[in-house]
Amino acid sequence: MLRARGQSTQAGFTAEKIPRGLFRAHPILISDGAAHDRQRREVARFFAPAVIADRYGEHIAAAAQTIVDEAAVTGRCRLDEAALHFTVDVTSRVVGLTESDTAGMAARLAAFFRQPPVDLAKADWGRTTRQWVQAAVNGIVPILRFFAHDVRPAIRAHRRDHRGDVISHLLDSGYSTGDILVECITYGTAGMVTTREFIAMACWHLLDDEQLRREYLAAEQPRRLALLEEIIRVEPVVGHLYRRATSAIDLSDAGGTTIPAGELIDICVRAANVDAEVYGDDAEAICPGQGGSAPAAGLSFSDGAHSCPGKPLALFETDALLHRLLASGPRLLTEPKIEWDELIESYRIRNIDLGFFVPARPARTPQRNP
Ligand code: HEM
Repeated sequence: MLRARGQSTQAGFTAEKIPRGLFRAHPILISDGAAHDRQRREVARFFAPAVIADRYGEHIAAAAQTIVDEAAVTGRCRLDEAALHFTVDVTSRVVGLTESDTAGMAARLAAFFRQPPVDLAKADWGRTTRQWVQAAVNGIVPILRFFAHDVRPAIRAHRRDHRGDVISHLLDSGYSTGDILVECITYGTAGMVTTREFIAMACWHLLDDEQLRREYLAAEQPRRLALLEEIIRVEPVVGHLYRRATSAIDLSDAGGTTIPAGELIDICVRAANVDAEVYGDDAEAICPGQGGSAPAAGLSFSDGAHSCPGKPLALFETDALLHRLLASGPRLLTEPKIEWDELIESYRIRNIDLGFFVPARPARTPQRNP
């Protein structure tokens, strides 16, 4: 269904409520059709695995090492917080949001997520008028702050000095300031916040399963990335994808029915990813290669016209941090807190505290009186 080109449009992320007339350019997340395909081809070069390793590999490694060094000194690391700062630091560099401090930007981005729940299948999406007002306020205030502190200064700097990143590309393509703000919100929320959750979840799995951890620590990078893809297949961060059928979609070849035009389609990523017909009887176990030619990460990074362009970056940065952290032999200090969003079946892991062995300092030799 996701690969049925031109037969559906994006219906997730409240896309259908966003008035198209607001933008001169089409926001990548909510656009469809030929212009969207072209736009994706153009930004793909910023996220290609070789580009990430060559241009950003050193920075990513240094940022990961800073977190590990700090943990080695203090003996502790609250991973969910460190991961948010890390992903904001990495993604903001690739996108070009480089004129503001990482901690402030992380807080501004995290604030977008304080939203009342929505149920796309219900009238008025299951929200009361009060909740809609709340959603508007909770959305607009962080957007204004993000614009003033992060996006506007970055656009100004890029106008003075071409940097060869996503913001420079958007300026070259004639995007207005408002259009660039929308793209930055997309990269910020789609990229940084999702990766933060995945880092915490993958770390938790690797700490829990000694054999898996040993295999991960001993493996070369390609195998490590395959293990991470397998973890995200079983633990997708985004639990549902939504589309609106723009024409009838015939799925009879795949053993399905025909979806009538106009229908809202809800794809349950979590269920699809452990489909025994595709990933075998042990589909819920973490064991790479079970799916044969099926995508290793299942639908966790979606598929087709809207599939995640940031997947190589997400896996690369997750590995850069976790491989270093786990090599320092951390242990879980307390059970982390899991917040579960029933509606979109996604998780938020908080208070994941890791403890590290800190060697005792040598006692100071007492001073002798001369
Ligand atoms: C573990 C981390 C990540 C997960 C689980 C994830 C998941 C997803 C999913 C499921 C979609 C598609 C939604 C749909 O089909 O309706 C998506 C789209 C997108 N992601 Fe990611 N993502 C991650 C990291 C990143 C990163 C690091 C970036 C870039 C900085 C990024 C940028 C985007 C963009 C721009 C889109 C919109 C693409 C389009 O609609 O054409 N993502 N992501």
